[in-house]
Amino acid sequence: MPATVIMGGQWGDEGKGKLTDALAARASMVVRANGGSNAGHTVQTHNGTFKLRLVPSGILNPHVQCVLGAGVVIDLPTLVGELRALQSRGIDTSGLIISDRAHVVLPYHKELDRLEERRREQDEIGTTLNGNGPAYADKASRHGLRMCDVIRPEVLRRKLAIEIDSKNAQIVSVFGDSALDFDALYLELIDMAEVVRPMVVPTEVVVQDALHHGEQIIVECAQGAMLDIDYGTYPYVTSSSPTAAGACQGAGVAPRQIESVVGVYKAYSTRVGGGPMPAELLDETGELIRQRGREWGVNTGRPRRTGWFDAVAARQTSRLNGVSEVALTLVDVLDVFEEIGVCTGYQLPDHVLRHVPALLDEMEGATPILEFTPGWNSDTTAVRSFDELPANLLRYIGDLEGHLGAPVRYVGVGPDREQLIDRHG
Ligand code: GDP
Ligand code: IMO
Ligand code: MG
Repeated sequence: MPATVIMGGQWGDEGKGKLTDALAARASMVVRANGGSNAGHTVQTHNGTFKLRLVPSGILNPHVQCVLGAGVVIDLPTLVGELRALQSRGIDTSGLIISDRAHVVLPYHKELDRLEERRREQDEIGTTLNGNGPAYADKASRHGLRMCDVIRPEVLRRKLAIEIDSKNAQIVSVFGDSALDFDALYLELIDMAEVVRPMVVPTEVVVQDALHHGEQIIVECAQGAMLDIDYGTYPYVTSSSPTAAGACQGAGVAPRQIESVVGVYKAYSTRVGGGPMPAELLDETGELIRQRGREWGVNTGRPRRTGWFDAVAARQTSRLNGVSEVALTLVDVLDVFEEIGVCTGYQLPDHVLRHVPALLDEMEGATPILEFTPGWNSDTTAVRSFDELPANLLRYIGDLEGHLGAPVRYVGVGPDREQLIDRHG
């Protein structure tokens, strides 16, 4: 059963792109399972830095077939732009295939994302404004257009004509904004659909055939499990399931075909956008983490909120996703700290929570219970084997393994491809 899931265990940006690129060296296929152009996955190689949004992070491995699964929502201008940018840097993208079931993000989804955020005023989610929420909402309410529709001009015309009317009614009467023009939208879409048409196939068949032939495949999630629509900090979440179960669904892989679930966790916490974050550091320690980790959004440039490792949240995501191996990333960012905090509980006025509560008021009102461990105070960026990591870091790793209930196999000591230690060599 040779499928491996790579998923984020926190609030996204854990370094999934880098790990996917590294593990893809030993795989024949990388399938992106969820999310859309809200993602930003960085891979840093000797050929420069690649910032991927929709294209799976296996694309820099020439032997790997990349797949956009049915669970992804596709923003065509972003995808086409990303493919052209990769091609201009000499990357072969000809192997990419796209699920004919994947939903399409349309300009009215972006418009509605922006308008809904504006209407929330102080309570905004802080979305990436890429239209993901409205596109997944249309998928669930059965108003979505899929790749199989947009590559057929007559089907597109018929379905778009119905949808644009109701969307324009909403944009004009609820939000008081201007209606979108059908003809302009239709023409733009058929142009872009023409570019991707040859790539659109029933990817679940290709994925299942590959598994049947014993090929090693990686399912790459976007976002992180604390942004999951069911078990994250709703409503401050994304609109898909960036989980091991969501990976199966989005990629077209059965649960029994998953051999390992690699949970990617930063050695501390970050979050971008609104929502509770009990272990957040609003002081100079948080700022130092932000500077050292270069914690600004890949696409949006927004500063990420920073904090100590939240073991309450991490334990929950590890358990709910059956994480079998952990990749602990950005460890080098903590190289200069005298002591390192871990949040082991959420203190409420009359009791301590050891799980993530559904009611956000509880999480927002919580004081983190912090346990401190001595830092290692040495440069780890040149270390390449697990045994050579400093003793205090090994102790920190041991502590986190206790919280996560899973072994740390990979350790990230810098952004470069080779700055990744595999404990198994
Ligand atoms: P993703 O969304 O999970 O793929 O992560 P992002 O690419 O959005 O953010 C991770 C950031 O950390 C990127 O800038 C990476 O280049 C960088 N990065 C990844 N692993 C490491 C690491 O081990 N150490 C350091 N210093 N940076 C890393
Ligand atoms: P990667 O794959 C970090 C966050 C947004 C916002 C919330 C909802 O790079 O880890 P959305 O646009 O999805 O409706 O926004 O989710 N968010 C991410 N945060 N990394 C991401 O992706 C994210 N994708 C969405 O900031 O808080
Ligand atoms: Mg990212």
